[in-house]
Parts: sequence; structure tokens; C-alpha cells
Amino acid sequence: MIKEFFSMKKQILVTGGTGYIGSHTVVELQQEGFDVVIVDNLSNSKIEVLDSIEKISGIRPAFENFDLADATKTDEFFAKYTNVEAIIHFAASKAVGESVELPLLYYRNNLCSLMNLMECMKKYEVKNLVFSSSCTVYGQPDVLPVTEETPRKDAESPYGNTKRICEDIISDTVSANPELNGIALRYFNPIGAHESALIGEFPTGVPNNLVPFITQTAAGIREQLSVFGDDYDTADGSCIRDFINVVDLAKAHVVAIKRQLEGNCKANYEVFNLGTGNGSSVLELINAFEKSTGVKLNYKIVERRAGDIEKIYANTTYANEELGWKAEKGLEETLLTAWNWEKNIRGIK
Ligand code: NAD
Ligand code: WQD
Repeated sequence: MIKEFFSMKKQILVTGGTGYIGSHTVVELQQEGFDVVIVDNLSNSKIEVLDSIEKISGIRPAFENFDLADATKTDEFFAKYTNVEAIIHFAASKAVGESVELPLLYYRNNLCSLMNLMECMKKYEVKNLVFSSSCTVYGQPDVLPVTEETPRKDAESPYGNTKRICEDIISDTVSANPELNGIALRYFNPIGAHESALIGEFPTGVPNNLVPFITQTAAGIREQLSVFGDDYDTADGSCIRDFINVVDLAKAHVVAIKRQLEGNCKANYEVFNLGTGNGSSVLELINAFEKSTGVKLNYKIVERRAGDIEKIYANTTYANEELGWKAEKGLEETLLTAWNWEKNIRGIK
């Protein structure tokens, strides 16, 4: 009896867990036997995502709806949920263009949420944090592919700057509090959806990102996709990115959490690039979409988008070898999941 009591399943807090990457990660955590509680203020997602998660995994995660930038509410959460032993922190504002117009909203939301969480980690002895960072911290790298040692550059946007500052907040806080552990996962370009087509990317308004704009164009919601420039120094002139399947990305979070809980971290602040290691151009991605779905895409080449970097893709050796994790799904199958998700939410057969 005593043994069972002390082996009681501990909880993983997933902030932003009804969001795009968070919801996919909740499913993977549940399927690995973890007990999950989500905190989300539904500022960029819908409560119905909980139903979809339950349909996929058979388990409805605990859910609390509040703003993590509210220190009092965040403290009250940890006073109530005393079984939380690790946090995966997805909750943030993430629209690059909006961050240029509303920098204070982005600094307040993204920095205050993290600082509130880390204050509570110290107070309530929650030792482990996995943080959603971004390859945006590298800017336009001088050398490709990008390793974790590639120097970070000045951010191209307030959003990107919040990611860099958050990494520093984590590394400085765990240095001052060695009982804490932080892992920053630098995502490249997450795309696609769960194979069930029950969860996926659900951008509010006009999508900023390429793949949801493609699937909405294919669904007839958008008239035409604009390809932002074909005069870059690349084989076909369009930008190059490292597009990674969102489920592969979610699985990496489970690996990172297990690394922390099993005491396998080599330092109390670690950084990993999460990409495929393959660079694909925008035009290559469009061709892959057409090939995998059989849908001809209506697009035109227009002028470059301000702030876009020319090319970036990851050197994945460290994540592959140190985490024992590797992205598995290819571009075509991933784009088909994105299309199946779009068709599901639009009622297209
Ligand atoms: P998303 O907007 O779908 O999910 C974020 C979730 O956090 C949303 O459900 C939103 O309602 C919630 N949220 C935001 N602020 C909150 C707050 N103050 N309190 C509580 N909940 C809050 O975004 P996503 O694409 O799933 O991204 C998740 C994380 O990954 C973000 O931190 C983002 O910066 C990072 N990231 C995303 C990408 C990408 O291309 N999607 C790439 C690199 C990094
Ligand atoms: C990819 C490529 C565009 C839309 C952004 C953020 C980054 C991260 C991921 C949060 C670019 C081209 C796009 C369109 C296009 N988010 N494009 N037509 O810019 O690589 O990264 O999202 O962390 O921080 O910067 O992703 O999908 O917007 O663009 O031609 O309608 O597709 O020019 O080359 P990006 P994206």
C-alpha cells in the first residue's frame, strides 16, 4: 500500500495545451501514460479541443482556464495542483507581425507568464521545465545547417526577442537555483496535423504561416496563395525552411520530459534544435502538397515579405544522438495530414 502511494502517478502541466503544438503534445503524453493538466486562457484556441483530445486518447485532461500572466491566478493553480512535477510551457503570443504592432502585449504576455511559472516552480518545488523556443533566435545564420552552438542573433521582431529573453530568464534562473532544470526546444517550422484529423493548426483570421494558407487556399477559403519572393539565392529562388511534422515535434517533448524526470540531463539548462535536418523551399513544399493531395494550388509569386530570412534548416545530430529522437515523417505525408485536417474542419469530403 505504502509503495503504491509513493509511486502515485505525477502530473505534467501543459500550458497552452489547447493550442496547436500543445494539443498534439498532450495526446502523446497521455499515450505514454502521463497524467496531464492543461492551463490555457483560450486567447488563441477553443475549449472544444479538449473533446478532440479525449476522442483521440480516451482521456479528458484536467483543464484550468486563466491567464498565466496573472501571478495570483498562477500561484492559486500550483496551490491546488500539488502533484505537478514538470511543466511544458507552450503558452505565448506567437504572431510575428502582430508583435511588431503590439510589442508591449508580447513582452508582457510572454515574459510575465514565464516569470510567474518560474516563481511558482521555486515556491512549490516543481523542478522541471521544458520551454517552447524557436529557430527565430538564430536570425539568418551565417553558416548552415544550424547547430545548438550557432550564435543567436538580434531578433527580427519583438516576438523573436521574447523567445531569446525567455531562454535567458530560464538559464539565469536555473543557474541561481540549481535544483531547477530547464530545457529549451528550438522548433524550426512545425506543420501538419494529427492523423485522426481531429486536432490541427487553427489560425484565427488570415493565416500568417505558409501551410495553413495553402490548405485554406486549397479549400477555397482564400482566393490565391502569394509566394513571397522567388529572387532569393536558392535553387528555385524561394526561401528555404526546415518543415517538421507536428507529431514528431510533440514526441520530442515527451522525450525531453522523460530526460528530466529520469535525471538524465547533462546540465540544468540544455538546448536542442528540433528540425528534420532537411531544407525545403516554399515552391518545393507547394509541389509536395499538390503531389500528395492531388489538389492543384492557385498561387502567384509576389514581392518578398519584410523580415523573412532567406534560408534556415537544422543540424539535428545533437538532438538525434543526445535525446535519441529523430523526426520521422516526410513532407508529403505531413502535408496530407494538414489537408485532411482542413477538410475535416470545413466539412469537405
Ligand atoms: P498556439 O497559439 O496554437 O498555442 C498557444 C496557446 O497558448 C493558445 O492556446 C493560447 O490560447 C495559449 N495562451 C497564450 N497566452 C496565454 C496566457 N497568457 N495564459 C494562458 N494561455 C495562453 O501556438 P503554437 O503554434 O501551438 O505554439 C506553441 C508555442 O510554440 C508558442 O510558445 C510558440 O511561440 C512556439 N513556437 C511555435 C512555432 C510555430 O510555428 N507554431 C514555431 C516555434 C515556436
Ligand atoms: C515560411 C515561408 C515565407 C506565407 C514563422 C515565425 C517563426 C515561427 C514559425 C513562431 C517563408 C513563405 C509564408 C505565405 C509565403 N513562429 N510564405 N506565403 O516565417 O519561417 O516562421 O513561423 O515561433 O518564429 O517567424 O514561417 O510559415 O510564415 O513562412 O510565401 O502566405 O513561407 O516567405 O519563406 P516563418 P511562415
